[in-house]
Amino acid sequence: MKIFLCGAGGMLGQSLLRLFSKTKYEVIPSTQDTLDLTDELAVQAAILNVKPDFVINAAAYTKVDAAETEKDLAFAVNELGVANLVKAVKALDIPLIHISTDYVFRGDRALGYDEQSIEYGPLNVYGQSKLAGECQVINNLNKYYLIRISWLYGEFGPNFVSSMLNLAQTQPLLKVVNDQIGRPTYAEDLAQMVYGLLEGFYPWGIYHGVNEVNGGEIPGISWYDFAQEIFNISGIKVNLEAVDSSQFVRPAKRPPYSILLNTKYPALPDWRFSLKQHLSINKKL
Ligand SMILES: NC(=O)c1ccc[n+]([C@@H]2O[C@H](COP(=O)([O-])OP(=O)(O)OC[C@H]3O[C@@H](n4cnc5c(N)ncnc54)[C@H](OP(=O)(O)O)[C@@H]3O)[C@@H](O)[C@H]2O)c1
Repeated sequence: MKIFLCGAGGMLGQSLLRLFSKTKYEVIPSTQDTLDLTDELAVQAAILNVKPDFVINAAAYTKVDAAETEKDLAFAVNELGVANLVKAVKALDIPLIHISTDYVFRGDRALGYDEQSIEYGPLNVYGQSKLAGECQVINNLNKYYLIRISWLYGEFGPNFVSSMLNLAQTQPLLKVVNDQIGRPTYAEDLAQMVYGLLEGFYPWGIYHGVNEVNGGEIPGISWYDFAQEIFNISGIKVNLEAVDSSQFVRPAKRPPYSILLNTKYPALPDWRFSLKQHLSINKKL
């Protein structure tokens, strides 16, 4: 079984590559250097040439703030690039596994968003471009897993966890927002989920790949909670101050209350468990 993996050099792509390389699947990795997803003919040629059994798309334009001024590029990769993949997988009648984001939602729904939610309302250009990519998949394919994730971190950063650990080495005081609530996704757990979807012959469609938060007792955590736990587990003493988002005005608005609900796939591990695993694997404990 052959998998064509786009975005193999990214944070998630590297976790997927590592996990799938240990399985029965043969992975054909591609990076922006070897295949630019915005080049329709190149995408067709590469995929038709390999004739994989599945395509996984972990590639995306992911610079959330820069997207506000690089709208064309964000849409070129996140919409047109996905459209190119959609045409290629359709031609071979093979499934596409595509990764999307909580940012397609406004992030103001008290109950959170399950996989069937259509209350889209991206607050920024990145979210708009990812929503446009979702539409390409949903409107044109039958065989797909579209997995929305949020607050991704893993070994192959940079990400929030690595940033916090780096900042703690140089900053006497760390200010972290406590009025944005969400759910982290550990890249290793997500890679296992992708494998589980393929192996378990789950029905095609939309899935939410986020870590559990305290067994569902509370809906989500704030970035401040996340930071506190990073330093608790690592045993690093820091001066941490909870602040509200008004102290960190950034070009792109973020969803304030972004809860992805996983109602279709077995629960991913609790966020604390996965964070501990991540920090110990990376010998940061
Ligand atoms: N990071 C998060 O917190 C987060 C949250 C929710 C959802 N997601 C989604 O999760 C997925 C993986 O994210 P990630 O954080 O692993 O992203 P990442 O580390 O930024 O990796 C994305 C990869 O896409 C590649 N890429 C960009 N433009 C391309 C193009 N035109 N053609 C081919 N490849 C291109 C990049 O290559 P270069 O490095 O060469 O540019 C990069 O290796 C994405 O779909 C993202 O939208 C991420």
